[in-house]
Amino acid sequence: MKVKKQFRAGVSRRKFVQLALVMSPAFALAACGEQATSTVAAITGAPPSPTTAPAAPTLAATATQPIPTATQVVPTTAPAPMPTTVAPVPTTAASVPGTTQRATQVLLPTPNCTSKVVKTIAEEEGPYFKPTSPERASLIETGIGGTKLVVAGYVLSTDCKPVKNALLDFWQADTNGQYDLQGFKLRGHQYTDENGRFSLETVVPGLYPGRTRHIHVKVQAPNQSILTTQLYFPNEARNQTDRIFNQTLLLQMQDVTGGGKQGNYNFVLSI
Ligand SMILES: [Fe+2]
Repeated sequence: MKVKKQFRAGVSRRKFVQLALVMSPAFALAACGEQATSTVAAITGAPPSPTTAPAAPTLAATATQPIPTATQVVPTTAPAPMPTTVAPVPTTAASVPGTTQRATQVLLPTPNCTSKVVKTIAEEEGPYFKPTSPERASLIETGIGGTKLVVAGYVLSTDCKPVKNALLDFWQADTNGQYDLQGFKLRGHQYTDENGRFSLETVVPGLYPGRTRHIHVKVQAPNQSILTTQLYFPNEARNQTDRIFNQTLLLQMQDVTGGGKQGNYNFVLSI
C-alpha cells in the first residue's frame, strides 16, 4: 500500500496524460502482433498457439536476422527449379554430396576438350521416376539378375570443365523390362567426385513394349537446373523405330575383362 501511495503521489495528472500517450503505440503494436499471429494460423490451418507456446518472432527478433548476402540469393539467370515431382536433392545426413562410394574403379578416357563440347540434350522423364532414391553407386543387390554393366563418365560444363558434386539420379527397368514401383530396385543417386567423374554399377536393362533399351537419368550441377535425359545402347534394332531415340545419347560400349560390359558417357551441362 505504501508503494501504491507513493505511485499516486508521484504521478501528477500531467504526467499521467504523458504516460498514456507513450503507452498507446505499445498497446496498438501488441494488438497488431496478436492479429498477425491469428492470420498466419488461419492460412496454415494450424490451431491457435497455446498460451505456453513460445512467442511468435517479434519485430525486434526479425530485425536481428542476418541480411542474405549476394551469394545466398538464388541467381535469376540460372534458377534451380525443382519440379514438384522431383526430389533428387537428399535431405539425410548420409546423403551429403561427395560421400558416394565408387562402385567400381574404371578407366575413363580423358574428356576431349580440344573440340567444342555440345550440351547433352534433354529427354522426357517418362512415367516411372520416383523421388528420394537411395544414395548408392551400385544398384546390384539380391534378386537383381542380368548382364553386369558399368556406366561411367564425367559431368562437364560446356567449356569442358569437370563439375564436382554433380548429382546423378539413375533409374531403369530390370533385365525383364520391369520397373520397381513399390521399392527402389535399380534406382539410386550419386555425386561426381573431385574430378567430375561418376560410375554406376548396374545390369543391362531389359526391353519393354514400345521402347528401345535405355537408362533414365537426372543430372544436376550444384545449384543449377536439372537435366533429365536417357542413355541408349548401340546396335539395338529398336533404335531405328523408337520415337525419342537420339544417337547423341549413345553409350560407348566395351566388354570388360572377366565378364560384363562398360558404357561410357560424358554429360555436358549448359553451365
Ligand atoms: Fe523407361
